[in-house]
Amino acid sequence: MTTDVVGKVSPHVATSRLTRRRVLFGGAGLAALAGAGTAAYAGAIEPFSLVVTRYAPALPAWPAGRKLAITVIADLHAGGPDMLLPHIRQVIDTANSLQSDIILLLGDFTAWYKFKWEPVADSVWAGELARLVAPLGTWAILGNHDWWHHLAGVRHGLALAHIPVLENDAVLLGAAGQRFWLAGIGDQIAFRLGPGRFLGVDDLPGTLARVATDDPVLLMVHEPDIFPAVPSRVALTLAGHTHGGQIRVPLIWPTFVPSAYGARYAYGHIVEAGRHMIVSGGLGTSIIPARLGVPPEILLVELGA
Ligand SMILES: [Fe+2]
Repeated sequence: MTTDVVGKVSPHVATSRLTRRRVLFGGAGLAALAGAGTAAYAGAIEPFSLVVTRYAPALPAWPAGRKLAITVIADLHAGGPDMLLPHIRQVIDTANSLQSDIILLLGDFTAWYKFKWEPVADSVWAGELARLVAPLGTWAILGNHDWWHHLAGVRHGLALAHIPVLENDAVLLGAAGQRFWLAGIGDQIAFRLGPGRFLGVDDLPGTLARVATDDPVLLMVHEPDIFPAVPSRVALTLAGHTHGGQIRVPLIWPTFVPSAYGARYAYGHIVEAGRHMIVSGGLGTSIIPARLGVPPEILLVELGA
């Protein structure tokens, strides 16, 4: 995995002045200053940045030499303060600059939390997504926030952008000799039944039953927690949702990961029993408008290299 820093949008640089104090209070003062500086960075700088994280995994179930470059955009969460139009534009421009074969959108398109100070209209974020260009197209799945807060609006936006949504469906893509299946499942926690209780609209067996040839399979899922159920027939599972924990504070960081598995599926390239999954840290924010140690990222996944 390598990471390229693309840049940041509208950074707000925090300044501080340290005055002379007694030694007794010096340590506490420095700690407070460091804490304030870290908080300022997490709220005002990192969420406005953008990196491209590159993976070139060797996959047992992906034929050697079948080259495919995949750009992944997860958890856009369009809305202020940190994912307004200039930042969204930067995401789309950067994604297009990667010139991948296919672009995959892993759900959670809009922000819905009490810190959403400024909305982004569906026509605006959808208009930006409509600018995405790739030879094999742009494909989407839906995330939990799409289901919980804005299902009709997100479906309408994706329809405006002419981006198909794979919900428990699979399509065969690519030229002869280079074909692969792209599969996507419905959201696993689409309905909230109570504290910690959800009902999903996912159907992994039904989705994979649509795979009708021996060609390799890529699987889009929003939440990574389904990974233990994914068979090795799937060459690579791509997930979002976790934001990598969003606030990576040492020791307590796993408690911020929205996963029943804690840190196990929080971020990055995960290999279990020969099965592979890559979890994106995503782009926007939820719960609080801050990121620390998990900058907004676009994935570039290169297969068959
Ligand atoms: Fe999510």
